[in-house]
Amino acid sequence: MNIAIFGYRGLVGQELCKRIYPLMNDKIYVYTMRSTDKLHKKLNRDIGKFRFLICCCTSSLAYQLLKITKKIRWEGYFIDASSLLRYGKTIVLDIINKQKIIQCVKEGQKIFCGGNCTVSILLTALGGIVGKLYIEKLICNTYQAISGCGRVMINNFIKQIRSIVIKEGACEYYIENKPCPRSLCFNISTWIGDKKAEEEEKICKETNSILGSDIRIYSTCVRVNVIRCHSEAVIIKLSKDISLDTFRKMIRKKYTKIVSDTPDDTKRFLNPIYVSKKKYIFVGRIRKLSPGVFSMFIVGDQLLWGAVDPLIRLYYIIRRII
Ligand SMILES: NC(=O)c1ccc[n+]([C@@H]2O[C@H](COP(=O)([O-])OP(=O)(O)OC[C@H]3O[C@@H](n4cnc5c(N)ncnc54)[C@H](OP(=O)(O)O)[C@@H]3O)[C@@H](O)[C@H]2O)c1
Repeated sequence: MNIAIFGYRGLVGQELCKRIYPLMNDKIYVYTMRSTDKLHKKLNRDIGKFRFLICCCTSSLAYQLLKITKKIRWEGYFIDASSLLRYGKTIVLDIINKQKIIQCVKEGQKIFCGGNCTVSILLTALGGIVGKLYIEKLICNTYQAISGCGRVMINNFIKQIRSIVIKEGACEYYIENKPCPRSLCFNISTWIGDKKAEEEEKICKETNSILGSDIRIYSTCVRVNVIRCHSEAVIIKLSKDISLDTFRKMIRKKYTKIVSDTPDDTKRFLNPIYVSKKKYIFVGRIRKLSPGVFSMFIVGDQLLWGAVDPLIRLYYIIRRII
């Protein structure tokens, strides 16, 4: 039961190739979507070799791939990292919905998708609360890394840094000149998405879809000058009042690290550079604002927690069932 990884040249594809350990002698095949004509031929030739197809492409390429697999009546498991299928299929986040995933697999569902990276990080941090206490309201403001936008954006960012820092001397250049306001370098982008504020909509819809809830969620998403790891400032209103200590204990799980609310620890541990490539979601600045209302700051590696890890764990879940 081999695995085919599509879009292996991208950031998610590269991370997936590094981190997936195939079970029971499964082998990994990697494919690029550079030419869909050739891909069609290759798929016709190779399709019998694999049972899992993990798609790490943009949603338009994922759509084409899904179309080809349907046309050739492939019956394996299609696991997609993009947003293409998120409003029809089960969004996988086993920390929250493992039982649902198992039930879907047993019922014969073959198509699954990963969630939006900020949502997966947020819900992983809230894993100890979900299902135990009713969440009335969430306010989630994000500070998202440039790698959340893919390889091309990272390449542009690096080019800008080179041209500004190396050629011009950053400080002098920025003080004396007025650079392009769309610059990523030493700047933030206060709108993520095209016409709609897609990221904010995704947080609201996907969170409620994964939880099967109707929580009021308000969000402002911003792209910041950070290479890797998304940060989120969260305010949560619970239907019941609990103590700050109980809240902290509920957040502390095997996949979260609680950072003590001191200046030293917060500055050292609660930032994207420290958290990069770590297998934990870091949660700090945990405070009680009023009865049942808490605030916290979350930092998580969006390529791992937000993209790759839930898909790898899904493969393990399915592989152990079938
Ligand atoms: N980045 C994140 O943090 C994140 C988190 C959650 C979900 N996702 C979703 O996962 C999917 C993949 O995201 P991504 O961040 O990996 O996007 P990406 O780096 O832009 O890669 C997407 C695809 O673009 C193609 N590509 C085109 N030019 C390229 C170049 N110069 N270098 C490398 N690849 C190039 C590659 O396809 P081929 O290899 O087929 O040529 C690659 O698989 C997207 O649908 C995204 O929405 C991303």
